[in-house]
Amino acid sequence: MGMEYRTLGDSGIEISAVTLGCWPLAGMTSPGATDENGIATINECFELGVNHLDTAYMYGAEGESELLIARALKSGRKGSRRDEMVIATKGGLHWEGGERGPDGRPETLRRECEESLRRLATDRVELYYLHAPDPKVPVAESAGELKRLLDEGKARAIGVSNVGVAQLEAFNAECPITAYQPPYNMLQREIEADTLPWCREHNVAVLVYWPLLKGLLAGSITRDTVFAETDSRRKYRMFLGQEWEKNHDLVDELRSIASECGHTVAELVVNWTINRPGISSALCGAKRPEQIRETAAAAGWKLSSRQLAKIDAALERRGKPDVEPPV
Ligand SMILES: NC(=O)c1ccc[n+]([C@@H]2O[C@H](COP(=O)([O-])OP(=O)(O)OC[C@H]3O[C@@H](n4cnc5c(N)ncnc54)[C@H](OP(=O)(O)O)[C@@H]3O)[C@@H](O)[C@H]2O)c1
Repeated sequence: MGMEYRTLGDSGIEISAVTLGCWPLAGMTSPGATDENGIATINECFELGVNHLDTAYMYGAEGESELLIARALKSGRKGSRRDEMVIATKGGLHWEGGERGPDGRPETLRRECEESLRRLATDRVELYYLHAPDPKVPVAESAGELKRLLDEGKARAIGVSNVGVAQLEAFNAECPITAYQPPYNMLQREIEADTLPWCREHNVAVLVYWPLLKGLLAGSITRDTVFAETDSRRKYRMFLGQEWEKNHDLVDELRSIASECGHTVAELVVNWTINRPGISSALCGAKRPEQIRETAAAAGWKLSSRQLAKIDAALERRGKPDVEPPV
């Protein structure tokens, strides 16, 4: 076993098949995050061969996730490990009175990118994404500004998140897309119908978020779990009522397949994800080192065709999930 690496489109940038998703580090929706554990989680990535960190301008009310990454890597200082990491950040979404607000205007994207670089204590990121399209701004206009940031060397490659095929096309006409970031996991497979084939055809890397469906598919949340008031998961349909019961029935089936192949449920679920055709990396959120250690162990082995068939049958029995659209 060992980490696997994939190249992002034709950028020459190599990333691990498991990425550290740095949203939980900000501690906004997943309670109990501490700076100490966050720094230890990032440092653990070096041991595991995880060389890709995914963050965003809006991860934390004041950019806590980006600031913590800079502290962990000691960016901008002697002895910095910054150059060993492929850093992705995103702009175009921000917090407004506790709600997410899109702003894809060129001047905002430039300001947010420059602020992210300051927080990360670096002069460029490897990957800069439009976090989500702004309904008030044509996506081509946002893409044009990201192309300028690319040409100025503030980003080595550009990505886009939370868009459909028409927006991928419009964006790509203004600025070459290297990476696409949609939600994807065993229970959220909408991209297989359209954007995933588009990306495969255009040599765009697909890096997926929510591979563990916010921890639901990680196998450690029990049926009688009561989420804290501040935990956003208590509002999601997949964590409520019948959907919750059906999801636990599925996780029980996955647990037995996982134990048969000597892995945990989280390892099985992430392994399945990173071996789907066209998927470059799974963005696995973690706020403690043992979580990324477990998800990183998803790379470097293959499920047998018998085990894959058992997973398909379990998903068939689970039936169509009632998932709300992302963002
Ligand atoms: N582009 C976008 O719009 C967008 C949107 C969402 C996310 N993302 C990116 O994708 C990443 C992943 O999303 P996510 O963090 O929301 O969800 P996720 O990876 O599906 O789930 C993360 C949660 O699962 C639990 N977990 C992780 N590893 C575990 C393990 N080994 N055992 C048990 N539980 C484990 C943790 O919850 P507890 O610590 O609470 O137990 C963790 O907070 C984000 O960090 C971010 O980088 C991007």
